[in-house]
Amino acid sequence: MKPGILVSRHVFPEAIDILQPVAEIHYHDSSTGLSAEDLQAAVVGKEAVVCQLTDKIDAAFMDSGSDLKVISNVAVGFDNIDIPAANERGIVVTNTPGVLTDTTADLAFTLMVSAARRISEADRFLRAGRWEQWEIDMMTGHDIHGHTLGIFGLGRIGQGMARRAGGFDMRVIYHDAMRATPEQEAEWGVENVDRDTLFRESDFLSIHVPLNDATRHAVGKDEFALMKPNAVLVNTSRGPVVDEKALADALEQGQIASAGLDVFEEEPIVEPRLLALENIVLVPHIGSASIKTRTRMCTMAAENAAAVLTGQRPPNPVNPEVL
Ligand code: DGY
Repeated sequence: MKPGILVSRHVFPEAIDILQPVAEIHYHDSSTGLSAEDLQAAVVGKEAVVCQLTDKIDAAFMDSGSDLKVISNVAVGFDNIDIPAANERGIVVTNTPGVLTDTTADLAFTLMVSAARRISEADRFLRAGRWEQWEIDMMTGHDIHGHTLGIFGLGRIGQGMARRAGGFDMRVIYHDAMRATPEQEAEWGVENVDRDTLFRESDFLSIHVPLNDATRHAVGKDEFALMKPNAVLVNTSRGPVVDEKALADALEQGQIASAGLDVFEEEPIVEPRLLALENIVLVPHIGSASIKTRTRMCTMAAENAAAVLTGQRPPNPVNPEVL
């Protein structure tokens, strides 16, 4: 008998094709997720789960799935999964790194340009029939070229931002818990600075740190107080890294110029004060949302799960110590 796998939500069909030969699939083929209780009921007797960032995979879930060998997340981030609980139970957790780097960096750069050049605001203005004549100071924003991009978290996606910034003649500074080598800094054209300098000197600040206890609300009132009045904040990482109420204060009071957000503290809920502002571009967590990348994320997750179910090492374990 083939081992059972739970696929918690709709995925691109190529992933199902990979799983079919190796597992008995229990497929919740819907974009609406299961409740915590239904997820727990669905995982009983399964040896694997392919889940998404909207599924909370906690100790109670793992206890219901007492046969679980692998939790395969269709995302690079895995803050939806209780890793210590998985470690205690010897369950391997996998993710989908690398494949979404450039797609997400593309979106982060787009948000940066859109916020600085007031693209969404100008689009709304035109569609509302408010454009009556060309005016010298109409919709004037901030230049990208010649300015300083600050990268908070120089992982794969942060490096992708640095590459893009090179094409726009920007100075790139960064801060990361782990400093790059001098050779990497020279190759990527980035300059290491301390945390306060990052916030103080950036004209554009793009967040690329993962969400964990150390980074929750890492950008809040104190950081906005350091930032320039022309600064633009971009977040394509995880919403809770930014204190949204402090961001709304900063934007309302002109402490910073604008922001571009792909991620939010309580998705899909967006702080109403942010929705009311003109100087912010808001998109619904679409950083990796190209057809090619999302398809590949699904097939990677399927490959990770299939590897464990067939007794092989999965390509992308996040807790390799349990293998
Ligand atoms: C991730 O992979 O963590 C993104 O948030 C979704 O692509």
